[in-house]
Amino acid sequence: MESSSTSTIISLLVILLSFSLASSDSFQDNFYKCLNSQISVPLSNCFYTPNNPSFTPLLNSSAQNLRCLLPSVPKPELIFTPLTESDVQSAVICSKQLNIQLKVRSGGHDYEGLSYISETGTPFVVVDLSKLRSVSVDIEGNNAWVEAGATVGELYYRIAEKSKIHGYPAGLCSSLGIGGHITGGAYGSMMRKYGLGADNVLDARIIDANGNILDRESMGEDLFWAIRGGGGGSFGIILAWKVKLVPVPETVTVFTVTKTLEQGATKILYKWQQVADKLDEDLFIRVITQTGDGAKKGVRTVSNSYNALFLGGVDRLLQIMAESFPELGLQRKDCVEMSWLESVLYIAGYPSSVPPEILLQGKSTFKNYFKAKSDFVKEPIPESGLEGIWKRFLEEDTPLMIWNPYGGMMSKISESDIPFPHRNGTLFKIQYVTIWGDADKASPGRHVEWIRKLYNYMSTYVSKFPREAYVNYRDLDLGMNKYGSTDFVQASVWGSKYFKNNFNRLVRIKTKVDPDNFFRHEQSIPTLPKEGKQRRRRGRRSHHQG
Ligand SMILES: Cc1cc2nc3c(=O)[nH]c(=O)nc-3n(C[C@H](O)[C@H](O)[C@H](O)COP(=O)(O)OP(=O)(O)OC[C@H]3O[C@@H](n4cnc5c(N)ncnc54)[C@H](O)[C@@H]3O)c2cc1C
Ligand SMILES: *[C@@H]1O[C@H](CO)[C@@H](O)[C@H](O)[C@H]1NC(C)=O
Ligand SMILES: *[C@@H]1O[C@H](CO)[C@@H](O)[C@H](O)[C@H]1NC(C)=O
Repeated sequence: MESSSTSTIISLLVILLSFSLASSDSFQDNFYKCLNSQISVPLSNCFYTPNNPSFTPLLNSSAQNLRCLLPSVPKPELIFTPLTESDVQSAVICSKQLNIQLKVRSGGHDYEGLSYISETGTPFVVVDLSKLRSVSVDIEGNNAWVEAGATVGELYYRIAEKSKIHGYPAGLCSSLGIGGHITGGAYGSMMRKYGLGADNVLDARIIDANGNILDRESMGEDLFWAIRGGGGGSFGIILAWKVKLVPVPETVTVFTVTKTLEQGATKILYKWQQVADKLDEDLFIRVITQTGDGAKKGVRTVSNSYNALFLGGVDRLLQIMAESFPELGLQRKDCVEMSWLESVLYIAGYPSSVPPEILLQGKSTFKNYFKAKSDFVKEPIPESGLEGIWKRFLEEDTPLMIWNPYGGMMSKISESDIPFPHRNGTLFKIQYVTIWGDADKASPGRHVEWIRKLYNYMSTYVSKFPREAYVNYRDLDLGMNKYGSTDFVQASVWGSKYFKNNFNRLVRIKTKVDPDNFFRHEQSIPTLPKEGKQRRRRGRRSHHQG
């Protein structure tokens, strides 16, 4: 009794002491000392404080949303770029010891910058995995091990380098970090045929809250379930994914056909909504909506671009389109046959003159200031509803919307197979984006208001109870954890949108594997309140009173 209360007082003192030392310089010194005692390489290669000239270029390097880099946005106390798995372990151990929030970044594409900024304004460190990016492809075994810092483009390139008839069904944008991307699902142009990236994961190496390295066998099926779609930054640090390869034909076909309002865009899009999820599984046609000059110069119009990948040759594609979607008027001259890897570049938006080696740069090409939101649609939106969208689009500077068809394999996988729940019954997903330039960087309010109003307008036409959203399109408008504490009821608001009924299982697993809530961020999975902790608190209070 006596000695346990003494040790409580001592540990309280230690905590108080470490809080008062947390003012930035000494914190960095302490972190440095802690790491130094743990790792063998010189820290000068991987330890960056804000007064290091390389700090800002490194912070900027993979940050995709320029909105999150403004001077007004809180910056990390330091960035650590581990060179080995055990360096990552040391970072976990030292962050825990010094009681500082750790954020992990793989590809930096988070929509709200959650991997490198903090909305809560509390000190944090960034563990940037960009130097852990090896990819090893085993064609005979039909799999690949990919380290978290590699991009999907690097993975696609390394697969195609070894085989023209293997692929992997993940994201369309080639600079996505495989580490964060798969944690939220990872959809791409082969999702109707093979499902998500997360549906095609065989194993993973992660570091848990105790600093242990686990694989599928040692983490167990609960945690292995949670990390495949439960969102990044809640359960541990993914070091590498082992993914399953899928067959692709030697020749695939792509096309992009654009229809403006004057060309009957509304009626064609109405028809697309009825067929896109029912088409042959080899065919994926997404719709990209933008504004621009119409037939008359200076008069803006809305255009819908039908951007497609077909896992087969042009003859069969034309047959399918004539039967299922003749309204688009697809012609042979619109179609280009190519290899699967070339289609990756095409869908990512590169001109055909660009060689595939660009995928190895691992750099993003599409950085800007933006705000985005998402919805899932279960019934076709009537033409009158579409017209309301066009009206709003014509009122914004650079609006963008992408409609992604579901159906096929997406409908065959059950809602609870992995945490990603948006399956059978979903016709398509909408992503809304508004982009602005340097001129508006200090006051983006008008654009953010615009997208929120559009989102309100859409409520009639999209999924309800809950209104579903894609966790990989993080949206802090849906709610946010407070610093250091998470609240189950509050988190259920966005949790049910991202995960539907899987949210409760995610919370149970989180509580089991990370009861102290070490891995946390603005929208991390909460832990359940600890019974023991409440009892201890009560005990302490009565001690004080006595
Ligand atoms: C231009 C663009 C295009 C996109 N296209 C697609 C698409 O085609 N398909 C699609 O599904 N999504 C797409 N996304 C969304 C994308 O999947 C998510 O932003 C994803 O989280 C990015 O992963 P990242 O590693 O690049 O991001 P990061 O910003 O590094 O991380 C995202 C989140 O995961 C956490 N995290 C990062 N690394 C790890 C790790 N190793 N272990 C645990 N947690 C980690 C971070 O802390 C953060 O919370 C796109 C995003 C952008 C900006
Ligand atoms: C980092 O990005 C910000 C925002 O775009 C920019 O203002 C700044 O100049 C960049 N700094 C460096 C060193 O790249
Ligand atoms: C998908 O849902 C429809 C309608 O609710 C149902 O008829 C069909 O059997 C479901 N398909 C699968 C694969 O579960």
